[in-house]
Amino acid sequence: MFNLSSLLISFFLVTLFGYTSAHSADEWRTRIIYQIVTDRFAKDDGSTDQPCNPASNSYCGGTWKGIEKKLNYIEDLGFTAIWISPVDENIEGDPDNAGEAYHGYWNTNYEKLNKHFGTEDDLVNLINAAHKAGIWVMLDTVVNSMALVGPYDQIDYSKVSPFNGPQYFHPYCIIDWNKNNRTNIQDCWQNSGVLLADLNVESSSVKSYLNKHIKQAVNHLGYDGLRIDAVKMMNETFFPEFVDSAGVFAIGEVFDYDPNVMCDYMNYHLGVTNYVVRLGFNFSFMAHDQFAPTAGFKTLQDQMKLVTTGNCSKADLGGMLIFLDNHDLPRYASYTDDQAIILSAYSFALLWDGIPSVYYGQEQGFYGGTDPANREALWSSGYDQTNPYYTMIKTIVNFRKHVMEQDTKFTHDTYDIVDVDVNHVAAKKRDVFLLYNNLGIKDNGTVYKVPTQYNENEVVSDVFGHRTLTVGHGGNITATLTHGYPMVLYPHTKLSDFTMPTINQTVMPSTAREKTTTVYTSFYSPTYSTRSFAGSHSLITMSSSHRAIPSFETLFFAFVFTTLAFIFFC
Ligand SMILES: *[C@@H]1O[C@H](CO)[C@@H](O)[C@H](O)[C@H]1NC(C)=O
Ligand SMILES: *[C@@H]1O[C@H](CO)[C@@H](O)[C@H](O)[C@H]1NC(C)=O
Ligand SMILES: *[C@@H]1O[C@H](CO)[C@@H](O)[C@H](O)[C@H]1NC(C)=O
Ligand SMILES: *[C@@H]1O[C@H](CO)[C@@H](O)[C@H](O)[C@H]1NC(C)=O
Ligand SMILES: *[C@@H]1O[C@H](CO)[C@@H](O)[C@H](O)[C@H]1NC(C)=O
Ligand SMILES: *[C@@H]1O[C@H](CO)[C@@H](O)[C@H](O)[C@H]1NC(C)=O
Ligand SMILES: *[C@@H]1O[C@H](CO)[C@@H](O)[C@H](O)[C@H]1NC(C)=O
Repeated sequence: MFNLSSLLISFFLVTLFGYTSAHSADEWRTRIIYQIVTDRFAKDDGSTDQPCNPASNSYCGGTWKGIEKKLNYIEDLGFTAIWISPVDENIEGDPDNAGEAYHGYWNTNYEKLNKHFGTEDDLVNLINAAHKAGIWVMLDTVVNSMALVGPYDQIDYSKVSPFNGPQYFHPYCIIDWNKNNRTNIQDCWQNSGVLLADLNVESSSVKSYLNKHIKQAVNHLGYDGLRIDAVKMMNETFFPEFVDSAGVFAIGEVFDYDPNVMCDYMNYHLGVTNYVVRLGFNFSFMAHDQFAPTAGFKTLQDQMKLVTTGNCSKADLGGMLIFLDNHDLPRYASYTDDQAIILSAYSFALLWDGIPSVYYGQEQGFYGGTDPANREALWSSGYDQTNPYYTMIKTIVNFRKHVMEQDTKFTHDTYDIVDVDVNHVAAKKRDVFLLYNNLGIKDNGTVYKVPTQYNENEVVSDVFGHRTLTVGHGGNITATLTHGYPMVLYPHTKLSDFTMPTINQTVMPSTAREKTTTVYTSFYSPTYSTRSFAGSHSLITMSSSHRAIPSFETLFFAFVFTTLAFIFFC
């Protein structure tokens, strides 16, 4: 099963040409990740005219070469890492009527790459180009299972490599989620339309192969980090050796809202996906919604408590992935057409504790719902770099980078929630102060009086709203949020060299996004970009092709002439 000579050749090549970036958890905490579904991000030739219907569950033609060609788009947004789909060969065609394996999670061969995404050279070129652009590459890794065409009594182990026999897998049983039994979850198989045969990662042959394989892949190709799929369905004891062999930081997917399950995995050399706090985000910005009419931002406070106490009391929030969207969740924008709520929620997740991960398409205002609707082809947007979602994300990403550069402790500290009720939250961390509400665009000016960490008479700037204000008596501010847009405050003096375009609140949307009849149609319509941001107001005035923007001094004077109501509390 182990091909010694190819291993030796690989090691020889690594010694000669190898690139080991080996980035640790500590280095990753200052990165900002852009998550890519490789098949849906960009075509080889960068073309934008090919339709892709997510509902068809088939390959749409995105490739590694396509990503490489569009790295400038990711770089322009300011991201410092990409997370790409799993790269190994997958089930070919659609033999089980479950759709094609365009997502990459139905792996059949650890020794071969998925040819739909390109050649090994293409992958190497992408990684090298990303490194040149200062962007790290996080590889999505599947070690829980291998995919077999079912049903069970017809499976053919010779179709998978190198684990080509039942001895490498746990005995067949299908996970029974109702049981909520960890042994059952970790050792049974999944039926995802195809059978996901559960690797016996306790066996020494499986373990030693996977450890060697990941080490070799990281050394040979130069991945900077791993995202490990389905970790919650794996024996935690597998990870310390696996992650140490990889020699890079690894985020484990623990898709679970139970903080005990989530935080436990952090004891095994893993960072985790922070679904617990994600749930807090989910309900905080949707307080008006029928699903959680009374909790609002208090759920954020509750969820934060869960991840900082009990079994999580030692958990490192800065080593967790923080996000609103990913390929498994309905896009947050699918829950509402209120653009203020969407833009607020996305910016909040980008500023919160943890390593932020932005799911491709957020910057184009995509709003696909439940999988597969949430896997639209990005090219259907024409890679527009001027829409308000793009601008907001670019601004907030760059602001976060600016803060992290100025203050190396920013990612080691956690936010203090200083004021919260159902409809608003005020939180501070070191020099950053956030004031958010969930009233949406219909909010025509709600006044908040909140204590801050700033000094009386200190001048602070609102990065979200292009405003400057003076802090009142005892460090309190009295501020008005308009149309549901937040304030993201930072000391004015510390922004002198922050040269990103900022969001112009005087032209924020006061209209809902226009919904089309189905979730899909807009994504392959060539009129996409004009549809989504149509309305009586343009949302944000800026052109990302022009890097020069007014200084904060200019903006300060501009502010004087705006009609924004700020009451300075003295
Ligand atoms: C969980 O499942 C395992 C394996 O099926 C079984 O042996 C064990 O008794 C179950 N535990 C509980 C608490 O039901
Ligand atoms: C996990 O691995 C440990 C060590 O190999 C073993 O003792 C334990 O039974 C395994 N748990 C499951 C659920 O397979
Ligand atoms: C998130 O909020 C939406 C909208 O209120 C709701 O439909 C969904 O069930 C929530 N998700 C979770 C995981 O609770
Ligand atoms: C810690 O986790 C264990 C296992 O899930 C659980 O039994 C225990 O109650 C948890 N402790 C706290 C304080 O939540
Ligand atoms: C907000 O709108 C309501 C109803 O449209 C109106 O009664 C109220 O005066 C408005 N408040 C402000 C501050 O504009
Ligand atoms: C600041 O605001 C807090 C909360 O609103 C209030 O309790 C406190 O008295 C205020 N401090 C001053 C100096 O006004
Ligand atoms: C914001 O937009 C308004 C309306 O278009 C415009 O008058 C103003 O100059 C803009 N402010 C900045 C700082 O660009």
